[in-house]
Amino acid sequence: MKKILLIDDEISLVRTLELYFRGKGYSVSAAFEAREGLQLWRETEPDIVLLDVQLPGMDGTKALATAKDEDLCGDVVMITAFQDMEATLSAIQRGAVDYLYKPLDLDSLDVLLEKILARRKEREKIERLSHVVSECFKPNQIIGRSQATLEVIKDIARVAGAPVTVLIDGETGTGKELVARTIHQQWAPGEPFVAINCAAIVSNLLESELFGHERGAFTGAVQRKLGKMEIAGSGSVFLDEMGELPLEIQAKFLRVLQEKQFQRVGGLKDIPFNARLLVATNRDLESMCRTGGFREDLYFRLKVFEIHIRPLRERTEDIMPLAENFISRMNRELNRNVTRIPLEYLKALENYDWPGNVRELENMLRRAMILSRSDVLEIDQCWLEPRQSPFSKAPEPEDRGLKSLNDMEKEHILKILRYTGGNYGETCKILGVSRPTLRKKINDYGLKEYLEADSAYQKD
Ligand SMILES: Nc1ncnc2c1ncn2[C@@H]1O[C@H](COP(=O)(O)OP(=O)(O)OP(=O)(O)O)[C@@H](O)[C@H]1O
Ligand SMILES: [Mg+2]
Repeated sequence: MKKILLIDDEISLVRTLELYFRGKGYSVSAAFEAREGLQLWRETEPDIVLLDVQLPGMDGTKALATAKDEDLCGDVVMITAFQDMEATLSAIQRGAVDYLYKPLDLDSLDVLLEKILARRKEREKIERLSHVVSECFKPNQIIGRSQATLEVIKDIARVAGAPVTVLIDGETGTGKELVARTIHQQWAPGEPFVAINCAAIVSNLLESELFGHERGAFTGAVQRKLGKMEIAGSGSVFLDEMGELPLEIQAKFLRVLQEKQFQRVGGLKDIPFNARLLVATNRDLESMCRTGGFREDLYFRLKVFEIHIRPLRERTEDIMPLAENFISRMNRELNRNVTRIPLEYLKALENYDWPGNVRELENMLRRAMILSRSDVLEIDQCWLEPRQSPFSKAPEPEDRGLKSLNDMEKEHILKILRYTGGNYGETCKILGVSRPTLRKKINDYGLKEYLEADSAYQKD
């Protein structure tokens, strides 16, 4: 039974409303002044309170403030004199859900109460069926409570103090770079952490990026340039996507690891290599060795200590803490106040495949946060279909299987752009092309139109 509390000093009105609401099946309590009203408010825990502004002694606005201070439950409708604009505004600011003017019209009162009760019901449903996000933002930390993640953290602790090469492998977006940075932080905080993505740099520039070059070493080398290995000093060099390192550079690299020194391109001087090497790959180097794509001797040198990061779908216990962490962070970044995830949504997150792993989760949540206007994370229906990527909705080929290479390329680029949430940097990384190349292809294929059609997509 719904409970209503009436606080008004107009005795005849209160008596009429009492009869009216009893007739409608409410449990009614009534008071003619604020103090008694507040007492009943505490005792009866009403769903709705009708509160007159003008009361003898403590007025209605004060009573409302007291009730809010004490966190008393119930939705409050203020009853004000027609002209009293100021009291109306102040009541709403103090947390009344609505107001009615005297003389009361029972039809408008009915409509209003129905609206309020429907809203309460919806709210109760959300509260029952949602998970409260705990405020837990920890920047640059490895989040997760699965056994697999705890093992990774233990591995980091074991290896951080020893100057050995670490090979970090895992699918795209699983957190390889985060692990590398964490090892570096433990090992040599304050020293440089120099990252180089072997897939993002064309092979004839890669050598000079790594080792540097002397002036005049090749056309265009107008001055001496230090390579990443030299810049790292006694910090760490992070070689990302090691599987993409061309074979001829693999040979040079092996020599560096054996001799602990190298020369700049076009130079003769031996430069000592003192940094720690951290290597990441999302390709299976062992099978690449078997097919000749990767040098076995180099592989064994790199594999001194291996950290394998499992795909997110194999450690679903990590999804909720990760989501909470991202939501806490994005509440600040995007000026949102999301505190609840509907359980239905949480289940969908746990059932989904996550081909893009943690990065995909982060991108997906960012979109959801942008769409969310209340404290509840908003669900885009297409995300609730299990095991189907919301970003892989590239157009279906009309003539199945009979596509041109260009069409394939266009679809593939679009798919990756959608998967990264339109982030050019990440897209270049995954596709292994440079930014100018990506831009040109986006232009040539008219992909901007598709992306603009995707609402609220992210662009770096
Ligand atoms: N366990 C984790 N806790 C918190 N954040 C994480 C975790 N794993 C990954 N992330 C976040 O996910 C994003 C992707 O991680 P990262 O760049 O380290 O992945 P990666 O494996 O290097 O990806 P790629 O293979 O595409 O280079 C980053 O924003 C990172 O901070
Ligand atoms: Mg990476």
